[in-house]
Amino acid sequence: MNTWIQIAYLVATALFILALKWMNSPETARRGVIAGVAAMLVAVAGTLINPAIAVSNYKWIALAIVIGSVIGVPLSWVPLTAVPQRTALSHAFGGLAAGLVGVSEFYISFSGSGMELSSFRAGALCMEVLLGFLTFTGSLMAAGKLQEILPTRPITFRGQNIVNIGILAAAVIGCVALTVNPSYAILFPLIIVLALAFGVMLIMPIGGADMPTVISILNSYAGLSAVAMGFVMDNKLLITAGALDGSSGLILSIIMCKAMNRSFANVLFGAFGQVQASATKAAQKTVKSATAEDAAQIMEQAGSVVIVPGYGMAVAQAQHRVRELYDHLTKRGINVKFAIHPVAGRMPGHMNVLLAEADIPYTDLVEMDDINPEMPQVDVALVVGANDVVNPAARTNKSSPIYGMPIIDVDKAKTVLAIKRSMNPGFAGIDNELHYADKTLMVFGDAKAVVGDLAKHLSGENGH
Ligand code: TAP
Repeated sequence: MNTWIQIAYLVATALFILALKWMNSPETARRGVIAGVAAMLVAVAGTLINPAIAVSNYKWIALAIVIGSVIGVPLSWVPLTAVPQRTALSHAFGGLAAGLVGVSEFYISFSGSGMELSSFRAGALCMEVLLGFLTFTGSLMAAGKLQEILPTRPITFRGQNIVNIGILAAAVIGCVALTVNPSYAILFPLIIVLALAFGVMLIMPIGGADMPTVISILNSYAGLSAVAMGFVMDNKLLITAGALDGSSGLILSIIMCKAMNRSFANVLFGAFGQVQASATKAAQKTVKSATAEDAAQIMEQAGSVVIVPGYGMAVAQAQHRVRELYDHLTKRGINVKFAIHPVAGRMPGHMNVLLAEADIPYTDLVEMDDINPEMPQVDVALVVGANDVVNPAARTNKSSPIYGMPIIDVDKAKTVLAIKRSMNPGFAGIDNELHYADKTLMVFGDAKAVVGDLAKHLSGENGH
């Protein structure tokens, strides 16, 4: 039986690695997801045939599967725009599971029926519960902020960083003491309370645009907690799967930090994302606006159009209209490309997923670093519900909270058409000079309706 379990774990590990590899590219991403699901099934099946599980316990496992499915299946129905908070909830459950396994393993050690609590085991258990429980409360906070059940702005107070570091330091000292002398069992519940509190305190001062990076860091903590659990339970699959989870979460956080030109320390302690007062003054400046018909006439004359999708395209579910527009433009011999910013929307890969859903060829999706050098030659930049990711303040205004964040340089194109419903700011809560520039025309309205109108005008149905 043991051989079968090891074979199942080996197959699952290979599938997890392939899943990550395949998820690297839009063409193979679906295969990657299927491989990940298959890996998890094989891992669960391999664990269920373990003879260490008493037959009488299968009913409890079945009950847990039913409860998990009752919660998990409806979670999978959320709209794409709510996926970040859904992901945060999954991390919360992952952290809670790791933490609870750690608690049971710890107390079993004292019941006489479990393994003796060596220093190594005590240390691994401490890591498991510390990371597991802080991931649990931290991820719940992140989900609450993204769902706007909790205030999205950073909540700060004087001496906050010192308080946070104090809580973490106390928990770490508790872990060290318990590792040195595993009989100090009283420290264990204290470590749990400190970890739960630290998760809340860690996320409280973080707001707005930093939430995706934080979710990704929490993902990495959940993975590391699973690694510690693997050491406690002597389970190699947990160690490898947890390490893959931990390292991929960390790599994703680094990619996102780079995309926003931020450091980890700045994300965790920088209280970024406060709504600036200047955003409310936006109405006092003047903008030039155009109708969809005017915009269509400008696009007809263009040799090249770069479409920059953003969060507004996701909210409006405008991707299919964008596809129609793309078809009409390319039929007219206009060169059309999509400029993809790594943090456009509300989750990594958000724009790629939506555009893939509308069957827009992957080859026409161009990443920010590749499209920017071409922008000065572009005739029309069509911004569809994007705001922060095209805000030139990131390049020019040193006092802006997004200063230094790489953006798509639409302001360098010959003409800019910006589709959004109002002059409201984007996620970072800051005004956008692009909208007041001479070369910019605002086309106000819901992205789906406006792009639909553009497509109609360009289809020739309106006599063009
Ligand atoms: P945002 O800066 O959030 O701007 C989106 C714009 O879309 C808003 O200004 C809004 O203006 C407009 N909009 C909303 N609904 C619309 C609709 N139905 N039709 C037309 N327009 C609509 O988006 P972005 O440029 O994609 O930038 C993303 C921001 O989110 C960045 O700050 C990023 O750091 C942050 N963020 C990113 C992620 C990831 S990983 N992608 C996750 C969380 C946060 P109106 O209200 O005037 O229409």
